[in-house]
Amino acid sequence: MCGIVGYIGKKEAFPIIIKGLQRLEYRGYDSAGVALLNGELQIHKCKGKVQDLLNYTKDKNLHGYIGIGHTRWATHGEPNDVNAHPHVSEVGNLAIIHNGIIENYATLKEELIQRGHTFESDTDTEVFVHLIGEIKEKQNVPLEEAVRMAMQHVVGAYAILVISYDHPRKMVAARKSSPLVVGIGDGEYYLASDATPIVEYTRNVVYLNDEEIACIDLENGLSIKSIENEVRTPFVEELEMNLEMLEKGGYEHFMLKEINEQARSIKDSMRGRLRLEDKEIMLGGIKDYEDKIFNADRILIVACGTSWHAGLVGEYLFEDLARIPVEVEYASEFRYRNPIINKNDVVIAISQSGETADTLAAIRLAKEKGATVLGICNVVGSSIARITDAGAYTHAGPEIGVASTKAFTAQLTILSLMALRAAKQRQTISEERYEFLLKELDRVPEAIEQVMKCEAQVKEIAAVFKDARNFLYLGRGYNFPVALEGALKLKEISYIHAEGYPAAEMKHGPIALIDEEMPIVVLATNQHAYEKIVSNIQEVKARKGKVIAVTSKQDEEISKIADYVIEIPPIADPFTPMVTTVPLQFLSYHIALMRDCNVDQPRNLAKSVTVE
Ligand code: AGP
Repeated sequence: MCGIVGYIGKKEAFPIIIKGLQRLEYRGYDSAGVALLNGELQIHKCKGKVQDLLNYTKDKNLHGYIGIGHTRWATHGEPNDVNAHPHVSEVGNLAIIHNGIIENYATLKEELIQRGHTFESDTDTEVFVHLIGEIKEKQNVPLEEAVRMAMQHVVGAYAILVISYDHPRKMVAARKSSPLVVGIGDGEYYLASDATPIVEYTRNVVYLNDEEIACIDLENGLSIKSIENEVRTPFVEELEMNLEMLEKGGYEHFMLKEINEQARSIKDSMRGRLRLEDKEIMLGGIKDYEDKIFNADRILIVACGTSWHAGLVGEYLFEDLARIPVEVEYASEFRYRNPIINKNDVVIAISQSGETADTLAAIRLAKEKGATVLGICNVVGSSIARITDAGAYTHAGPEIGVASTKAFTAQLTILSLMALRAAKQRQTISEERYEFLLKELDRVPEAIEQVMKCEAQVKEIAAVFKDARNFLYLGRGYNFPVALEGALKLKEISYIHAEGYPAAEMKHGPIALIDEEMPIVVLATNQHAYEKIVSNIQEVKARKGKVIAVTSKQDEEISKIADYVIEIPPIADPFTPMVTTVPLQFLSYHIALMRDCNVDQPRNLAKSVTVE
């Protein structure tokens, strides 16, 4: 949730930290701060965005070759100047920034108060740094050892960076369940929550593992130890992303750029995996585990938010094509309800960020119970990618807009490939249908290119409904999860209440909401349930609702009854979600823009939810 950046080396740290924080701002943006070592320990922090911090620090001493910076998504304590990070130890010589939650902070705080500590903020983070400081003073140990010892008392999730006035050439980093990457330059080091602030300086990175402490010392370089005090050899990996992927590339917002990137990102997801020439599908990352899928009694999909919606499409795909029973679970519910997991079950965890706390916990639980766990992640080297048995990266490229768009369609691509591959192997569809679907899947990027043309029309529709107080989204079959996703997108960025429903369920309740004010988006592309969805539209119109229909054929019947018709290129039912979702992304984007909402950084949200 929060973003953390650190620099230690021979350059001025402040500009590097600020640029890094701006790249990480999608993770949280309610306050920001820096700590710099320059003969003194300088702390500058304030409520608001990184730009507010820049304004606030205009006349301050910002010199220093070592520094840490933070952009916050509040957990403990409201977003204000005092609760902003960095926080300092009792003596004031240590500064910390933290991403995560210290669950036992109240107990630790009480104990520290009894031992004479005083606290300025309401944060759990301040407790952590007081504990480190106390251990360091009392036991007279090196900083990294004090951090290691403090970690043994702390329960929760964290990625931290700590610097000390007494050690102006050292930085200590540690993680548990929150991500942390160390970039290795030439006699300099960059630390961050993910690789986005690092990529413009170096491609060589080390991803810290859980319960590891990294000590960066300008004399001795990088050394890593485990919480049990075992020395670990840093594993240096090369980054695949490039700087261009992190820029808006001429678009007004990241979200708009990411919507428009989908033909390319879906192609990238399929590249080398869908082999039309030899009619094969090859997912290298899960090759060794394919038999488990083919012979699975059941597939359990765990995820949150948009990734959960992708999981629902996965359920339709695996059941329809490969005839494998599927259950889709909210990771947050799954982890706490003592689920039944059998050894012939395969668990698939879906996550854009690969850092979602609930999904991570669900994976750990599934692994404890002996299940095979596969991951579908976008962020390379992320925690989920690393703790799953195997997986497939979506290769959508960095997704910066908080509202997920291209990651969703890339997740659907991977699920389509997996289901189709299983269907072929299990002979649950005919060779003829397999070949037809393979060609249809290959055609999706072209269909996406065509559907992009609907933007102008959708923008006009957005202008009509921008002041609506509620929206209903209806879909059947493969389009039901798209209805949920369309409603989520609108809620997230325009703050209009919206609900997604299976079209036929409407008459069991939501129909009561319909009046002449109510816009209802109906996904009417299904080839097999077409007449039924037409009947659902009739039911809405009979109550004077305003129908925005998304359809894949020029259709007189729907054109006559719907108020607005958005036509999309036809594609086989299993792959329609990738196409029908695009007009809904545009609709929420333009409505949000017309309502003056911050499209890329909607209020209260954060891109990766690394706390429960
Ligand atoms: C998507 O628009 C949301 N911001 C959110 O629901 C997101 O999908 C969810 O938090 C899961 O994230 P993940 O895919 O990174 O695990």
